[in-house]
Amino acid sequence: MKFFIDTADVAEIREAQTMGLLDGVTTNPSLVARTGRKFREVLDEICEIVDGPISAEVVGTDFETIKKEARVLSKIHKNIVVKIPLIPEGLKAVAWCADNGIATNVTLCFSPLQALLAAKAGADYISPFIGRLDDISHDGMELVRQIVEIYDQYDEFDTEVLVASVRHPMHVLEAARVGADVATIPFSVLGKLAHHPLTDIGLAKFLADWEKVPQ
Ligand code: G3P
Repeated sequence: MKFFIDTADVAEIREAQTMGLLDGVTTNPSLVARTGRKFREVLDEICEIVDGPISAEVVGTDFETIKKEARVLSKIHKNIVVKIPLIPEGLKAVAWCADNGIATNVTLCFSPLQALLAAKAGADYISPFIGRLDDISHDGMELVRQIVEIYDQYDEFDTEVLVASVRHPMHVLEAARVGADVATIPFSVLGKLAHHPLTDIGLAKFLADWEKVPQ
């Protein structure tokens, strides 16, 4: 499973990059707003740091506007993946992007039927938002399971399942268990994945015992 980082904070991206685990980046308007910086400036910097797919989201909600934004975003760097909301006008734009060699990530997916439509439109990635489903007492991971099940049955679907709205390490574990292609992980969660108290206790004991070994 590929690891993307879900942030527009370049300090976090640089730090994650040093872990050697990073395959790509996803951003969204809320994450960019949090940085207080200009969108273009942030994107340019991310493209310099990471050599992998970098999702940049459109804010248009009609076909023509999304198409224009997709054209502009895709010209910024070869790694830009245009993130488009899962609305009917968005799906039209996804199909247009597929025909014009522009990579897309279809976002705000909350149902397996939406994911089926995104694959038929030719999306490169589908982003089911699992944390937000969990928030309203729905099983977010069940959505991922159903999407993987559907996509696996049709060879012509190349759309990768990108698990988004990840809130804790168990989301990452379950995404890997059900065979998702990608998990986009917030920096705070990425930092937790390697931790285990028994590792820390075991290491402390090894180091303490090492002090007893004659040097
Ligand atoms: O990639 C989408 C993600 O940023 C949404 O996460 O935590 O706002 O639901 P969240």
